[in-house]
Amino acid sequence: MNFLSLIEAKRDGLPLTDAQIRQIVAAGTAGEIPDYQLAAFLMAVFFRGLSNEETRALTLAMRDSGETLKFPNDGRPVVDKHSTGGIGDKVSLPLAPLLACLGLRVPMISGRGLGITGGTLDKLESIPGFTTQLAPERLVRQVQQIGVAMGGQTETMIPADKKFYALRDVTATVPSIPLITASILSKKLAEGLQALVVDVKFGTAAFMPNHGQARALALSLVNLARDCGVPTRALVTGMSTPLGRACGNWLEVREAVACLEDRGPADLRQLVLECAAQLLVLSGKVRSLDTAREQAAGCLAYGRAREKWDELLVAQGADLAAFRRKLQAGQTAPVLLEHKAGTTGFVTACDARIIGEIVRDLGGGRLTKDTVINPDVGIEILAPPGTRVRPGEVLALLHAADAASASAANTRLAAAFAIRDVASGIPQLIAEVIG
Ligand code: URA
Repeated sequence: MNFLSLIEAKRDGLPLTDAQIRQIVAAGTAGEIPDYQLAAFLMAVFFRGLSNEETRALTLAMRDSGETLKFPNDGRPVVDKHSTGGIGDKVSLPLAPLLACLGLRVPMISGRGLGITGGTLDKLESIPGFTTQLAPERLVRQVQQIGVAMGGQTETMIPADKKFYALRDVTATVPSIPLITASILSKKLAEGLQALVVDVKFGTAAFMPNHGQARALALSLVNLARDCGVPTRALVTGMSTPLGRACGNWLEVREAVACLEDRGPADLRQLVLECAAQLLVLSGKVRSLDTAREQAAGCLAYGRAREKWDELLVAQGADLAAFRRKLQAGQTAPVLLEHKAGTTGFVTACDARIIGEIVRDLGGGRLTKDTVINPDVGIEILAPPGTRVRPGEVLALLHAADAASASAANTRLAAAFAIRDVASGIPQLIAEVIG
């Protein structure tokens, strides 16, 4: 293959054929194209974009670069949800068992956190004994048995995305709508889904800085997924404030359990129920969104989703007794430090980007792929936007590995909170539903 001529074509804004795109994906995945050429190609795509046809071809070629999941048709729709990533975004943890209780099958393949955004796999791995390494056949078997499995991408599934994403990450080519669309949908289409919800975030801590760009990505995802036969809706949601109160891997698992016990924060509950309701309707299980929301809320209220969560943990090797002890322990990080308000007023902002950066630097996230994370560190927000505070009141609780990192984080945390004399309106969490 003359790869140079394909780079030149894309550099000059010329369209590539299906066959050419399949060749690039096959040769790129097999390691037959040097990284510098593949990176040049990705940069050409970043600047020139891809047409809908090219994005479709890229997505399908990436999906087909490895094994795909196949489920028998037993009447239970196979569904999933994907989030473009944010701070405190632990929606997948309560959502997956909830969906299984509602009669759907959920083969959830998730990623790790990189940079400031957290990853579902890292959260799950803070549970004693829980394994996220599920071979495709084991994943399918578990989904057939209990309705849900939560694992990571394996060597044999979507290897093209692994290769391309790693290069994009170090060549500043991540924020490209066609490349993000192909990356997300290749993974989701490989799961053999019948319905998909994507949570496309915008705001200070999201890939997409504003609502307009998030809408463009949402439309690209919804249109292409439908074109590939998977009914899809996108929720366009704000990510300038962390979701829920807990940020940090174990703290987020604890909050997810609270949500499953129907005593979690309102914003998290709202998003979990909305994703569940959209999937019930999209998959044809329930006719109206209102009925679907009621069913999902009932499942949380009666503790069925919480029971399913324990079933999921046991199926994936978790030590349930150790998990319960950890839940009851309250504090698991060595140092707790209160971050206090210095003035009277209303909290008008709690910047998700700053919170995410601090959690990462406390050891809860990665600067490189090889960083070993500390599952127990993080930040609990006690005064979210809208709260009235007085000097000395606690705005947030820092969970740190040692006193020095707690003190450094405490200093930086002041910049995350804005306190004003007058309360400001709190933007709606779900700005728009597309599809
Ligand atoms: N999430 C993905 O899986 N891929 C991207 O390219 C961006 C976000």
